[in-house]
Amino acid sequence: MLNIGVIISGRGSNLQALIDAGLNIVVVISDKADAFGLERAKKHKIDAVHIDPKKFKDKNTYELEIVKVLQKHQVGLVCLAGYMRIVGDVLLEHYQGKMLNIHPALLPAFPGLHSQKQALEHGVKVSGATVHFVDEGCDTGPIILQTAVPVLDNDTEETLSARILEQEHKIYPQAVKLFAEGKLKIVERRVTGTGG
Ligand code: GAR
Repeated sequence: MLNIGVIISGRGSNLQALIDAGLNIVVVISDKADAFGLERAKKHKIDAVHIDPKKFKDKNTYELEIVKVLQKHQVGLVCLAGYMRIVGDVLLEHYQGKMLNIHPALLPAFPGLHSQKQALEHGVKVSGATVHFVDEGCDTGPIILQTAVPVLDNDTEETLSARILEQEHKIYPQAVKLFAEGKLKIVERRVTGTGG
């Protein structure tokens, strides 16, 4: 069975969706001590670890600590779920091709922070959620699954975010299952095996 490690920074509703899908999550790591996702993990008897980046001299040593914890749990897939840092060389060296992220926009539109606000400000009529492999860029890796949602006239950042989040909670577990079943193949930038 594939051991999954989840890295978060906050609320952890996507983590909850992965837990609820019955996936084998063996450890949850947060860069923030007060991330609610850590409580969710503990409630489900999953190891919950806070790693404080400020305690390390640089990003590499911080990420080496993350890798140490992931290796201790023999993690074969890393899921970023609301982890608000750009992944550096050390995590990529160890987990590229085995690390996924969920993003609240139809990439390559609106990468980075506040994607829902960016979508509203730009005036797009459709936005959505994307699950992708993590590479060295910011939200640039090969796309696995996407779902679109409409942007409505009276939307605020909150209402659009909620509509997108509902879809995130569906496609993240789906993508993880496809990975766990060995169905996904990356050919250049295209991911096949998603049934699309
Ligand atoms: C989610 O909407 C996720 O897509 C987004 O943060 C939220 C975390 O919510 N991630 C990013 O914006 C990453 N660039 P959650 O903690 O409840 O899963």
